[in-house]
Amino acid sequence: MSTQTSNPTSCAGSDAEHWVARDAAVLSPSYTRSYPFVMDRGRGSEVWDIEGRRYIDMNSGIAVCATGHCHPDVVRAIQRQAERFLHMSGTDFYYPLEVEVAERLDRLVPGDEPHQAFLCNSGAEAVEAAFKLARYATGRPRMLAFMGAFHGRTMGSLSLTASKSVQRAGFEPLVPGVSHVPYAYCYRCPYHLQYPACDLACVSFIEKTLFKTIVPPREVAAIFVEPIQGEGGYVVPPPEFHPRLKELAERYGILYVDDEIQAGLGRTGRMFAIEHWGVVPDIVTIAKGIASGLPLGAAVARKSLMTWVPGSHGNTFGGNPLACAAALETLRLVESEFMANAAAMGEVMMERLRGMQRRCEQIGDVRGMGLMVGIELVKDQAGREPAPELRDAIVQAAFERGLLLLGCGTSTVRFCPALNIPRAIVDEALNIFEEALHAALSM
Ligand SMILES: Cc1ncc(COP(=O)(O)O)c(C=O)c1O
Repeated sequence: MSTQTSNPTSCAGSDAEHWVARDAAVLSPSYTRSYPFVMDRGRGSEVWDIEGRRYIDMNSGIAVCATGHCHPDVVRAIQRQAERFLHMSGTDFYYPLEVEVAERLDRLVPGDEPHQAFLCNSGAEAVEAAFKLARYATGRPRMLAFMGAFHGRTMGSLSLTASKSVQRAGFEPLVPGVSHVPYAYCYRCPYHLQYPACDLACVSFIEKTLFKTIVPPREVAAIFVEPIQGEGGYVVPPPEFHPRLKELAERYGILYVDDEIQAGLGRTGRMFAIEHWGVVPDIVTIAKGIASGLPLGAAVARKSLMTWVPGSHGNTFGGNPLACAAALETLRLVESEFMANAAAMGEVMMERLRGMQRRCEQIGDVRGMGLMVGIELVKDQAGREPAPELRDAIVQAAFERGLLLLGCGTSTVRFCPALNIPRAIVDEALNIFEEALHAALSM
């Protein structure tokens, strides 16, 4: 999902224009395309449009193609499985691939207790499962979530989402009982406090104000939280945030649902981003990168929470065998090599972007972990006024120079490339980014 709303315009007379027009006639106008990139093929971190032009893909299909486009090992695993069977419905029959994926997740998800997995097809569906499981397991109706959060667009997950009002407008009433509180967005503290003097007011507000006024804590089933906010602007909370929030949740018997859909699966240099904060969640939601582009999601919970009975939750396509085959290969590659590359390339990117920040008044903040990196554009560093037009102009100028970027938050450019992106392509991408920045600034 991108944040720009203008229609693609710069492809007049091309094959791309033809496909963009056909697309506009038959596809939902709710999609948000930033520019007219019409894909032909991809390999690693490079993609080619239908006219043969090469681009560097710094989004990897919005943090999905974790092993790059068409990694040969992943493609071979899918091909091998495609010759055996394509579908059997894991809710009604058994097959080893589903078991193997769940066993792998049991091992990888933080915490010593055994885990069980509910497999599905998307992030929103994983969040829906977590929402239902949290209610089922606790018998409590309410949920807490954060301003700026993105958890999906189905009715339950949308009730937790608080990223942009356009995502909710026209869809009320949503699921009742969800309350939102400010996230630890220290660059723009909603309480106008300074970290660490703030003593994490964003966490204490929940107990001191919310629980005392409108939300009885014994009615709260779960807190849904992204370890690093994704769509909200690649916002990295301070070291105490998750531990303090988890302590608070435990005090009131509230489940901690860690939404790792964008940040997880090796992207931040750890298998799950929450590991950077040393917190063990009760439920983890996973999707995006797990199967390198095939649709697969999972809600993984402590076994003692998976109390729901046969028939209480299920689906037709969840744990699709092709997606499971891709997931096993993806997890193998991420664990053995690509997670370390994500950590190393993330450092390269941060250093270079921080250098640009020192030279450019309009780069307000550079933040991230591993290959989840955001730079927030502002009118000037002192005033910190967001500069969404500048951000959009940079994204456009980068596209014109062969670099695919997307925005997030109000005025942030995000970088979420494949975890195996090579150094030479990182350098090339950052060179183009710098050129695009200067071009946008001189417009
Ligand atoms: C943190 C997070 N949760 C949930 C979702 C929803 O995932 P999906 O688009 O697969 O439904 C997203 C998608 O961007 C996400 O970033």
